[in-house]
Amino acid sequence: MANHSVTKRFGVLTAGGDCPGLNAAIRGVCRAAHDRYGMEIVGIANGFRGLIEEDTRILKPNDFSGILTRGGTILGSSREKPFGGTTSDKDEVASDKVSAIVDTYSKLKLDCLVVIGGNGTNTTGYKLSREGLNVIGLPKTIDNDIVGTDRTFGFHSALAIGTEAIDRLHSTAQSHNRAIVIELMGHKAGWLALYAGVAGGGDIILLPEIPYNIREIGRHIEKRGKSGKPFSIVVAAEGAISVKEAEMDKKDRKKYRLENGPSAGYRIAREIQEETGMDTRATVLGYVQRGGIPSASDRVLATSLGTAAVELLAKGKYGRMVALIGNDIGSIDLSIPEGKVKHVPQDYYMIDTARAVGTCFGDNN
Ligand code: F6P
Repeated sequence: MANHSVTKRFGVLTAGGDCPGLNAAIRGVCRAAHDRYGMEIVGIANGFRGLIEEDTRILKPNDFSGILTRGGTILGSSREKPFGGTTSDKDEVASDKVSAIVDTYSKLKLDCLVVIGGNGTNTTGYKLSREGLNVIGLPKTIDNDIVGTDRTFGFHSALAIGTEAIDRLHSTAQSHNRAIVIELMGHKAGWLALYAGVAGGGDIILLPEIPYNIREIGRHIEKRGKSGKPFSIVVAAEGAISVKEAEMDKKDRKKYRLENGPSAGYRIAREIQEETGMDTRATVLGYVQRGGIPSASDRVLATSLGTAAVELLAKGKYGRMVALIGNDIGSIDLSIPEGKVKHVPQDYYMIDTARAVGTCFGDNN
C-alpha cells in the first residue's frame, strides 16, 4: 500500500531552455510520486504554455519509463512568461495568461504544481504561488546561475561538452599558430566559461563578471608568443563584456555589438585580430551544449532533486525550491531565487586558481 501523502494529484512541467537531465528529473519526480505515494500525475506540455492552452495529459508509469538517459524533455518546453516579457502589451496579456493558468490548475484539481526550470521558471513559480497556487520548484540550467542551490543539473553535462570542445580546439590552434576564441553559453553569469576554461586549460577566460581590456588580452597573447607558444585559446562566455562596452549606454552598446559580429565570440576574435595582427578564429558552440545525454553526475543530481521534491509534496510543504546545499539535498523558500542571478563572485576561489596557472581574465591583475 502507498504511503500517506498530503498531495494527491499534481502537475509537472519543464520550462525555459532545455538541458541534459530534465528527463531524469521528471522520472525522479514521477517514480517516487507514483510508486511511494500513489499520487496522480498530470504532465503539462511546453512549460507554462501548456497550462494556458490546457495542453495536458495524465502520466502513467510507461510514460516515465526508459527516459533517465534521454536528452531534452518528454514534456516539451517553452520560454512562455505569463507575467510578461513576450509581448508589448505586457500587463493586459500577462494577466489573461495568469488567470488562464489559475483556471487550468483548478479545473485539473491539482494540489500542487511542480516546475522544473531556471531563474525565469522558478520566479514565475513564486509569482504563481502568490496567486494562490501551491508550487514546488526544481533548479535546472546549464548556466548554474540560480541563487539558493550550490549547483543546477545540466551544468555538469554542458561543462563536459565545453571542455571536450576546448581540448579539440587546442590541437588545431597549435597546428596553425592561431588564436581561437570559443564562445560558451552564459549570458549573465560566467560559471560555464570559468569551469570549462579551467578544465580545458584556456589561456584567456572572459566572463560577464570581469570586463576585459583588449590591450591586456593582446599583451598576454604576445607574452605567450615570446615564450614559445604562438597560439592561444580564449574561452569567452556569451555575455563577456569589454571595459569599453561596459562604459557605453545600452543603445550604443547594442549598436556597437550589431556592427561587430553576431555574438561575443566573433566580436572578440575580431578585436584580437585587430589588436595583435594574429590569425584569429571564432567557434560558437551554441546548442550543442544543451543537447544529448546527461552526464552521470547530472543524472544523480536530477534524480535526487526530483525525489526530494516528492517528499515536499507528500508533506504538503509547498512554496519551496529543492536545492543542493553542500553535499546534501534540501530546500529553500521559493522567494529566495526570485528575480535573481547567481553571478561568479569576484573573490571566487577558481578565479585565483586560474590566475595561479597563468590564465588571463583580460583585466590587469
Ligand atoms: O538556458 C539558458 C541558456 O542556455 C543561456 O545560457 C542562453 O543565453 C540561452 O539559454 C539561449 O537559449 P534560447 O536561444 O533557447 O533562448
